[in-house]
Amino acid sequence: MASADQTRLLIVEDVPQVAQYIRGLLNAQSSIKLLDVISEGAKVAGQVGQLRPDVILVDALLQGRVKGLQLVEQLANAKVGAPIIVLTVPQNPVDVDPERGINGVLSMPFSGYDLVTRISQVRSDFQAAGSGGTSRVLSVFAPKGGVGKTTIAFNLAVALGQQEHRTVLIDGSLQFGDLRALLKVPADAPSILDLPTDRIVESDLSDVLWRDPSGIDILLAPPRVEMAEMVTARDIDKVLSLLRRVYEAIVIDMGSTLSDVNLAFLDTSDTIVEIVTYDSTTIHNTIAVADTFRIIGYPASKVRYLVNRSDSPGGINPDDLARAIGRVPEHKVVSDGLLVVQSNNEGVPFVLANPAAPISQDIMRVASEVMAVARTPVGARR
Ligand SMILES: Nc1ncnc2c1ncn2[C@@H]1O[C@H](COP(=O)(O)OP(=O)(O)OP(=O)(O)O)[C@@H](O)[C@H]1O
Ligand SMILES: [Mg+2]
Repeated sequence: MASADQTRLLIVEDVPQVAQYIRGLLNAQSSIKLLDVISEGAKVAGQVGQLRPDVILVDALLQGRVKGLQLVEQLANAKVGAPIIVLTVPQNPVDVDPERGINGVLSMPFSGYDLVTRISQVRSDFQAAGSGGTSRVLSVFAPKGGVGKTTIAFNLAVALGQQEHRTVLIDGSLQFGDLRALLKVPADAPSILDLPTDRIVESDLSDVLWRDPSGIDILLAPPRVEMAEMVTARDIDKVLSLLRRVYEAIVIDMGSTLSDVNLAFLDTSDTIVEIVTYDSTTIHNTIAVADTFRIIGYPASKVRYLVNRSDSPGGINPDDLARAIGRVPEHKVVSDGLLVVQSNNEGVPFVLANPAAPISQDIMRVASEVMAVARTPVGARR
């Protein structure tokens, strides 16, 4: 791997065993270059100027004259130009708070995969924020199949395009690629697999994106089911960081599982638009996933719930849904069997086929609301 692709990491850790453990995890891969391990907080600011790390890892429990979180605050105030990940233990929970310089949190014990993905996530978030923070990754997710992910992701992407945001839609259902069928794309249309795997540059994009008549660009899933496993979490990180440079809105039509690839999509997302319906299994899975997201370290504000078919409660009281998920869902989209089925069968977005329909108006509102939230300064989003 070219060294320009490597993330330059500086570690601040005074417990030799922990430092040794992290060194061991990093030895196994080449995407991160460990610059140094500093054990004294007071020496860090000077070293940062010399070493120019891309990411700094600080132990919250660092002892000595300058304690862990004190150091984080100092580095944030000094605007050192690198995001900070705070290392902690479950007994000492720390919340992500970019305003206070805490761009990410890693709780012991963690695997090499956790370490590497968290580092690449905070680095790409920090770079996106630095480039004006205008690029937004929105994943449309649900821990249950058939709740309207593809329908909503497609129409939301088109609505964002209508609202003058340069938008790309990614078919994140890598195995079954719902968008190919929906949009009647020819079998030989390029897919995510056609992107180079080593160094991807902006000019590669135009060859692999499908330009839909609705005006948005689409990165399709592989054409065959068995090809899905050729796409790795690392490929996803690379693709998203490239798309962030070019597009204002990146919408991902996700699958329903928490696979490595899906976690790569979710980690990088600024907002997870999570679809719920008035259905007991969906609600059950939604609660389970909320728990997982909390353990992973996603702030609650990263998720925005969207009730699809909001006018079909099917015997479930909306208050019970709100109680189950712990808050009133942020968005609602009504049901419109006729328009949705007709539009989906014709491969056209209903927001264009019938912009005045209540369902289209709902999607337009979701589009402006998610972008309005996204534009709020990062620290105020929690
Ligand atoms: N608001 C709605 N009103 C009416 N029908 C809808 C609505 N949302 C989705 N549908 C219908 O529900 C079905 C499932 O939708 P869709 O394929 O978008 O779900 P999905 O979550 O992407 O499914 P999968 O898990 O298979 O990817 C489709 O037949 C679609 O037409
Ligand atoms: Mg789908």
